[in-house]
Amino acid sequence: MAILLKNIKQLLQVREATVDKVSGKDMKHLPKIDNAFLLMENGVISDFGPMSQLPESKNFEEIDCTGRFVLPSWCDSHTHIVYAGNREQEFVDRINGLSYEEIANKGGGIVNSAEKLQQTSIEDLYQQSAKRLEQVMALGTGAVEIKSGYGLTTEAELKMLKVIKQLKDKYNIPIKATFLGAHAVPKEFKGNKKGYLKLIAEEMLPKIAELQLADYIDIFCEKGYFDLDDTNYILSAGKSHGLTPKVHVNQFNSIGGVKASVDQGALSVDHLEVMTAEDIDALKNATTMPVALPSCSLFLSIPYTPARKLIDAGLPLALATDFNPGSTPSGNMNLVVSLASIKMNMTPEEAINAATINGAYAMGLSNEVGSITKGKKANIILTNPIPSYGYLPYSFGENCIASVFVNGKIL
Ligand code: NIG
Ligand code: FE
Repeated sequence: MAILLKNIKQLLQVREATVDKVSGKDMKHLPKIDNAFLLMENGVISDFGPMSQLPESKNFEEIDCTGRFVLPSWCDSHTHIVYAGNREQEFVDRINGLSYEEIANKGGGIVNSAEKLQQTSIEDLYQQSAKRLEQVMALGTGAVEIKSGYGLTTEAELKMLKVIKQLKDKYNIPIKATFLGAHAVPKEFKGNKKGYLKLIAEEMLPKIAELQLADYIDIFCEKGYFDLDDTNYILSAGKSHGLTPKVHVNQFNSIGGVKASVDQGALSVDHLEVMTAEDIDALKNATTMPVALPSCSLFLSIPYTPARKLIDAGLPLALATDFNPGSTPSGNMNLVVSLASIKMNMTPEEAINAATINGAYAMGLSNEVGSITKGKKANIILTNPIPSYGYLPYSFGENCIASVFVNGKIL
């Protein structure tokens, strides 16, 4: 049945279908309608407007939203929610003084997660991952990208991507899959990075393409992981199989990966905690979306992406969680939006734009989600009665969400 939300205090992020992202000064603007209604039919947003234009009541289920805000669901364009077990011991090791790098060098980190995942059955991996997906959906995430990269063998990478496919089949929010075979060099290839890259390009990629298990190709372009040559090699290989690049870059060091990714036509460059003037220049006039992951910065105590520098240079910016067992064991986009305002000096308008419309762009879902637009999926958030939308980032740690709708149905 059609659902009508009426007497909405403010309907946020109302956009024409032609707007696929917002940049620079425009990010300060969050288009809205006061005292509004929203109609959801057949899974999509079918109508909306001021209450004065409320359509003649048909067979609607009506929900009174007095004092509440409605906005599109969060679009989380960067996650690793398919993983096995957790790494809380490394968390304790870091509390006791070891660095993320030191832990990785002694066999912890990504390869630790890979060992766990290789020993986990596909059924168990699915169950663990489905639980996380349900958890983030309840927190208002209505579209998500999920990466492989904790397998690091052909079999285990395929296992991860098959789990992502199962999640796509079971859950009715848009899910995009990214192949991140080049996340770390596995133990078996220690001292033979080139051999591992060859395995990715010549064995993993053809199989993944044949089974149509991925939309995007990713690599961890970073000192101690993969360099610029590796990045160009893997992104080119991915593209030859129809996968568009989305790249982990500039988390700890700037080594030219931003420009390389832009030159490769990347849809997004993600992390960007360390940004030089050259990196920012490389993003100007590009179609690549910069993506910040502030809960990773919080958890690892590393710098936050210099959002002001990027936005003030006229660039767009998206926000995502990076939900993963090592650097960000949280998939809470509400916290991400708060951190963006608190730690990155983004206004509430900028943070909400970055977590909705720009997030949708960063995973190629602008046509389906990210704004209140007729015909887009009715994946929306209804807040509790709150004083203003600025209260969302302000009241960090408080749950302001009353209900989440997916395809026009209450979750
Ligand atoms: O995006 N930086 C690379 N990959 C993940 C973390 C990997 C891990 O520690 O498990 C990230 O932060
Ligand atoms: Fe990541």
